[in-house]
Amino acid sequence: MKRRVLSVVGARPNFMKVAPIERALGRYSDRIEHAICHTGQHYDYAMSQAFFEDLDLPEPRFYLGVGSGSHAEQTARIMLAFEPVCAEWKPDLVVVVGDVNSTIACSLVAVKLGIPTAHVEAGLRSFDRTMPEEINRIATDAICDWHFCTEQSGVDNLRREGVPDDRIFFVGNTMIDSLMAAMPRVEQCTIVGELGLRRRQYAVVTLHRPSNVDDPEQLAMLLEVLGELSHRLPVVFPIHPRTRQNIERFQLAGVVERTPHLRLIEPLRYVHFVALVRDAALVLTDSGGIQEETTVLGVPCITLRTTTERPSTLEYGTNVLVPPVRERIAAAIEEVLCSPPRNRRIPPLWDGRAAERIAEIVADRIFTLDRRRR
Ligand code: UD1
Repeated sequence: MKRRVLSVVGARPNFMKVAPIERALGRYSDRIEHAICHTGQHYDYAMSQAFFEDLDLPEPRFYLGVGSGSHAEQTARIMLAFEPVCAEWKPDLVVVVGDVNSTIACSLVAVKLGIPTAHVEAGLRSFDRTMPEEINRIATDAICDWHFCTEQSGVDNLRREGVPDDRIFFVGNTMIDSLMAAMPRVEQCTIVGELGLRRRQYAVVTLHRPSNVDDPEQLAMLLEVLGELSHRLPVVFPIHPRTRQNIERFQLAGVVERTPHLRLIEPLRYVHFVALVRDAALVLTDSGGIQEETTVLGVPCITLRTTTERPSTLEYGTNVLVPPVRERIAAAIEEVLCSPPRNRRIPPLWDGRAAERIAEIVADRIFTLDRRRR
């Protein structure tokens, strides 16, 4: 009898991580039936549906439609909606990815129902417990059965936390699998010209972390710094709904209006975003995934945070961590724009084949999983 694997997606960065797993598990369709459950944590077209199209993800079999709310509300709603899906479909393995509220909510439900659970992107740690994602990472890793790691730091952190070696698999980065798979379409994409930009002569910005955008003074300072940068080269800012809401709420629209070369645009679909980043002179971000994508694309990245859970992007890649204070950001921009590009290497196993490794391990071991736990 075929075994059932249920992969969970919820928010924008999850879609890129699951798409290659869906494709790789497809090769084992004689043994494995794979389905996707979308919690609906992100629901706007540009934050969700467009990604399914760009990544060739099939329609999710289950859609929970939970939407936004406080952390407790959102996590609780996901749990309430996910439990009956597990009870009905009876997966043999639940796969969760990344560090969003859907990740912890669904792993908690699955584990308590006795369903073996795998975490993709396990072991990453920023060691900053004020980040909601850090709590999600720690809690998910503490209860999952299998841990698929993107980089060596993940393996080291899990070992330190006492996870046995036979539950840790260093497989590489499925987000980079998606990036590589998208390159032919990225090559065809004309977004840079459509936005009136010239190759290597503009900066791209993304900001959505609570620590940067939920405090009015911090957000105002960041917009001012970006405004100053835009006098030197155009700055394109595909804006996350959380950040847009806060600009309105804190009445900061005036800061943006005064600086015509700081362009706030709607969130971009995946292929368009990768194309925009690939040709940028510089990226400023507080995202996790973009630190990884710029590392592989070889584009200088200034991460506006004090910590990163992805240290291999600093060690191998083009990423620099810059505390988000005015003088430090200005100095970092100067450094990037005025110095020759850094030599960069691609982190180990970021070769576009991580999902194949995951699928092979799952296909090999799924028949050994202890079904009595259900
Ligand atoms: C979530 C993740 C974060 C991830 C980010 C990527 C958690 C704790 N956070 O943060 O780790 O980096 O996604 O984008 O899971 N909204 C819309 N349309 C949408 C989705 C959200 O308008 O499709 C608005 C909502 O009004 C909400 C706000 O954006 O208030 C934030 O959304 P939410 O899902 O709470 O968290 P993110 O900030 O997106």
